[in-house]
Formats: sequence, C-alpha cells, structure tokens
Amino acid sequence: MISGNPVYVAIDTPDLEYALALAERVCPHVGGLKVGLEFLSANGPEGLKAFAKFGLPVFADTKFHDIPNTVAGAVRATAAVGVSIINVHAGGGAAMMQAARDAAKSVNPATRVIAVTVLTSLGDDDLVAVGQTPPAADQVLRLATLTRQCGLDGVVCSAHEIARLRAALGPDFLLVVPGIRPAGSDVGDQRRVMGPAEAYQAGASILVIGRPITAAPDPAIAAQKIAQSLGFSAG
Ligand code: C5P
Repeated sequence: MISGNPVYVAIDTPDLEYALALAERVCPHVGGLKVGLEFLSANGPEGLKAFAKFGLPVFADTKFHDIPNTVAGAVRATAAVGVSIINVHAGGGAAMMQAARDAAKSVNPATRVIAVTVLTSLGDDDLVAVGQTPPAADQVLRLATLTRQCGLDGVVCSAHEIARLRAALGPDFLLVVPGIRPAGSDVGDQRRVMGPAEAYQAGASILVIGRPITAAPDPAIAAQKIAQSLGFSAG
C-alpha cells in the first residue's frame, strides 16, 4: 500500500538542471518523483542520485525488456542508486519478471518492481499485428495476473482499467496510473484520461501526473491544487 499523497510528478526531460529545479518547486506538494527514458538516457542511473536530497520516493520508469540475465543486471544497477520503484515489460515473460524482482530485492528488499502490461498507445489492431489476442483489456488482465503470480508488486495501467484489475488482483497490488487530467487541463496526446480524484477513488495506488503540473504557469500551485483535491496538503 502507498500511504500519503499518491501523486508522482512525471519529470520528462533530458536536462538534469531543469529536472532538479522542477522537483524543488513541486516537492512539498507531491508524494514522489517519476523519471523515464528521456531523463535516464541522458543522465543514466547516476543522474537519479541527484534527487535524493528531496527525500521523496523515486520511480525509475525504465521499462526494461530483454533476456532475464540482462534485465537483472540493469535492475541491479538502477536499484543501487536508491530508487523506490523500477519497472519492466510484462511481455518479457515470467522468467524475466522473476529475475527483475530477485535482482531488485537483492540490492534493497524495499524496492518495488512493477510491470507495464499493454502500452496505452496500442489498440486492438496493433495487438493483432504483433500476434497478441485482443481485446487489449483482456491482454492487460492476463499480463497483470502473470505479473502478480511472478511476485512483482504491481502494474502500470490506465485509469479505465483500475476497477477490473483491483477486483481481480486484490487491495495490495500497486496500480500505478498515468493519463490523469484535472478538469480543464489539456488532454495532449493521452487518449483515455480521468480526473485525479476519480482515479484515486477508483482504487489507483499512485497517480503519475506530468504536464498538468510541469507545463502549468506555476507547477507548485498546480501540484498543490491536485493534492488538496485528494485531501492532502503540505505540512
Ligand atoms: O504529461 P502526462 O501527464 O501525460 O505524463 C504521463 C507520464 O506517464 C509520462 O511520463 C508518460 O511517459 C508516462 N506513461 C504514460 N502512459 C503509459 C505509461 C507511462 O503516459 N502507459
């Protein structure tokens, strides 16, 4: 379970200085920081160390997908810099997910490993094209069930999948949800969005929110408003 503010701000930039400045501004109003491939490709796991001073959990959105031995090595290197959450693609299979879990826990037992099921950019036609059985929602449930069987801590899912996955996978499985849009904010390239309070009430464990905070005229105020709408305010 995640207690406290469930909002992880998505810091999508290759620029370390900009990332740190953004984290500094929003850190009183968020529960964690999420950095992905854009940041990690430019700065590597070493770049993650710079976030330690904020005292917030860091989600390294690594989306690893390779043979088990290689993924285990990559997970160890990422876990070693002190992140709280790392992820892999569930499509890499059971042995790969178990190797990722074992690698992370060997560095730090508190590190959580979660899996991406079906990328939200893929529709049913895309699944057929890569030899997977639609509908996407069923493939999500299949892969999320496998993820839990492999002893991982949770999955990344869209807000519209929360209810079904929560019912099938129980209260302790982490559901990490991007595609969150407060009323009135730009949808951008997200296809199926939900408001923060709605997604939280539906059972999301973590809300990953990027541009509604980072592209706001004042990111700190935007983050604060979202936190308040969920019943959290900076102490
Ligand atoms: O700016 P926005 O709120 O759309 O950012 C959402 C974040 O969540 C981005 O970092 C994006 O890469 C990530 N993400 C996503 N959809 C997924 C997985 C991750 O939007 N299925």
